[in-house]
Amino acid sequence: MIKNKIKVICVAAARPNFMKIAPLLDEFKKHKEFKPILVHTGQHYDYNMSGSFFKELNIQKPNYNLSIKAGLHGEQTGKTMIEFEKVCLKEKPQLVIVVGDVNATIACALVASKLHIKIVHIESGLRSFDKNMPEETNRILTDHISDYLFTTCEDGKKNLLKEGIDKKKIFFVGNIMIDTLLKQQKKSKKTKILKKLNIKSKEYSLLTLHRPSNVDNQKTLKTLFETFNIIQKKIKIIYPIHPRTQKRIKQFGLERHVKQMKNLIITPPLGYLDMIYLLDNSKFLMTDSGGTQEESTVLKIPCLTLRENTERPITVDVGTNIIVGTNKNKIIKETNKILLSKNKKSKIPSLWDGHAAQRIIKILQKYC
Ligand code: UD1
Repeated sequence: MIKNKIKVICVAAARPNFMKIAPLLDEFKKHKEFKPILVHTGQHYDYNMSGSFFKELNIQKPNYNLSIKAGLHGEQTGKTMIEFEKVCLKEKPQLVIVVGDVNATIACALVASKLHIKIVHIESGLRSFDKNMPEETNRILTDHISDYLFTTCEDGKKNLLKEGIDKKKIFFVGNIMIDTLLKQQKKSKKTKILKKLNIKSKEYSLLTLHRPSNVDNQKTLKTLFETFNIIQKKIKIIYPIHPRTQKRIKQFGLERHVKQMKNLIITPPLGYLDMIYLLDNSKFLMTDSGGTQEESTVLKIPCLTLRENTERPITVDVGTNIIVGTNKNKIIKETNKILLSKNKKSKIPSLWDGHAAQRIIKILQKYC
């Protein structure tokens, strides 16, 4: 029996976190010198946005659920800090692991920092250089107070070094989200989602849209739906809608306009397996989310990113991603190329191979 186990709190909070935490918890099971404690801050709380991911990815029941839910940024971040501090004071962990860039990432890292607990940041070093995105502030601040910074690509290291972060803290380990993608890809083939939606492989485009910069601005959201109206006349669009966007469509009086598009099929947020199967079988992806840019690169699906920038430039440099912003003409032009099968050549980035969690734990074993 191992006497002095290393107590590690793993933080999960919102939909894009769950697939990053799952491989880590799996890997910890093989290394008994660690005692992982799972904290779900509850930033996302619906079954569709959270519960289904725990079920499909076989993630253990959280040891703590802080039930923070939605709120203004200060409110959500502040509430998370208050509740997470109580957990840290009770559990006295040696390590806190945070992933990605959501509000809970910075909230929990900040608490750990003040309590002198070592912080691990997974998916470190990503930068969009766009401070209008709340996630950019979360990324920069989390990186600057972290002790072990695990990057998904070499660009990440460059960004961190430029900001003066000590190179001894930086480790290039690959992309942990891809660990989950590759593990679940085979299982996803059993889903009946194509049949359920009455669509055929390669005869539709998949859409995700939820960034505040796109959906909280009435003019931008209207332009985007005008663009989708043109595209859906050429190819079906499947859109698993995000609660934020659903609210805005109502608020901006766009419901009728959206409903009249016969080939724009809106579904509730989908589970992980349905989502990756839909992506894998799509003709192309249109997205403003971060993770799907990476998943489409690995699955070799053309991706049009509906933003002016990306914090994941490797998906553009070597992957299938093209930044099209929210300009109607540009989106249509690139869509037409894809419909003519004039796809960009692409490669899978280095170390996006399904073994990132193993590398992370090996490094933690060595240094802790
Ligand atoms: C958050 C993250 C973003 C990530 C996204 C993925 C931050 C700053 N943003 O944005 O980086 O890409 O998650 O989804 O942390 N809601 C529900 N049910 C839920 C969860 C949310 O109805 O289970 C509603 C909330 O009530 C709120 C809206 O969706 O009105 C937005 O949720 P919020 O957590 O504030 O941010 P996201 O836009 O999801």
